[in-house]
Amino acid sequence: MNELLIRGRVLTFVDEPNGLEDTASYRYFEDGAVLVRAGRVVTSGPYDRVKGLATADAEIADHRPNLVLPGLIDTHLHFPQTQAIASYGAQLLEWLNTYIFVEEQKFAQPEHAAFIAGRFMDELISNGTTTAVAYCSVHPESVDAYFTAAEQRGMRMIGGKVMMDRNAPDALCDSPERGYDETRQLIEKWHNRGRAHYAISPRFAITSTPEQMEVSRTLVAEFPDCYVQTHLSENRDEIAYATSLYPDAKDYTDIYARYGLLGDKTLLGHCIYLDDREVSVLAETGAVGVFCPTSNLFLGSGLFDRDRFDRLGARWSVATDVGAGTSFSMLETMDEAYKVLHLQGQRLSPLNSFYRMTLGNARALGLDDRIGSLHAGADADIVVLDSSAKPAMELRMRTAKSLVEELFILQTMGDDRCVAEVYVAGKAMKAKAITRQGALA
Ligand code: GUN
Ligand code: ZN
Repeated sequence: MNELLIRGRVLTFVDEPNGLEDTASYRYFEDGAVLVRAGRVVTSGPYDRVKGLATADAEIADHRPNLVLPGLIDTHLHFPQTQAIASYGAQLLEWLNTYIFVEEQKFAQPEHAAFIAGRFMDELISNGTTTAVAYCSVHPESVDAYFTAAEQRGMRMIGGKVMMDRNAPDALCDSPERGYDETRQLIEKWHNRGRAHYAISPRFAITSTPEQMEVSRTLVAEFPDCYVQTHLSENRDEIAYATSLYPDAKDYTDIYARYGLLGDKTLLGHCIYLDDREVSVLAETGAVGVFCPTSNLFLGSGLFDRDRFDRLGARWSVATDVGAGTSFSMLETMDEAYKVLHLQGQRLSPLNSFYRMTLGNARALGLDDRIGSLHAGADADIVVLDSSAKPAMELRMRTAKSLVEELFILQTMGDDRCVAEVYVAGKAMKAKAITRQGALA
């Protein structure tokens, strides 16, 4: 079996960093390497040690002086919105009606779904994202297109058909029965096939009737191993409308709680206006609040309150939320995350940002045994980052004195141009000549 020895400055987290000085939270090897065999990490560490474990005919990919990290993870985005990014001038409900519910109708055509699915996966890879959790459209064909494109590239991907049976054009509405039947068939077809995982996906309380919420409950009970994804508390008008549709619920969170949709495999997009009671419910159930900073700024939705989640012990992850999110880049996403928190007097350290994009998001998905770090046995999903990819970055990097400073430059100034290479299950996906000498080397 051919081995691959990936050489560079290796960085991988072992725990959530607690401040800028927390060197115990990560492993960093200035001259490091990752040994890959059969799509898995054999070991990672200092180059000399790792090289000693490689077979004589191992292929060497020398990425010095670039950083070698686990592939980035995006925990919430919409694949049918790939061509609707940058739709002007509206907040959530108007934006959905004006742009998104028009765009998603195109996915009734399998050729269109297949074309966008391929471009979507390639865009993720170009940005160093090797695993993502996406909504497909209401059409089962869109889910087939999505998982087919992922399978062709060998990617570990999570997704599901959106279920919606009201407050949307007829062409985008299923029914409780259809939502159930189609979701069930798709789970049986795709869940745990290769690297695919299914997410049961009632869009949000506004577009699902109580009857559809009931069938969602049934699906979750029947397939407890599947993810659940929906949207929660993103926009004030949305909250008022959602809670008016479920008058018996205590608050927006309680709508989902009543239907048994909150558990440790549940991903709740946005969670901006939750009060302590609601965040405590997330903490008790293990449900994850998904912070989508570029989207929250783009739609004028509001500011995610990280400190409330941490104070109450609730889990949270980070995501792009394309197409309300304005970039596929997790680096650009963390740049905006920093600013959103900064505006509220909160902090997100560069170490925590890189933890979040990798091990943190893997933990949010319960997939940290497979992805998010470079431990022995992990899937060999790896990103190589060039901190000097842009002239302005190269100039700035000349003054960088530490790894932490470099990481902050990467997230603040970086984008897909910094992604020098991406390995998906050990296979190089983005060949790019690496010639520049880094300032830190
Ligand atoms: N809430 C319900 N659907 C959506 C969507 O597609 N995008 C965002 N940002 N919020 C939603
Ligand atoms: Zn969303």
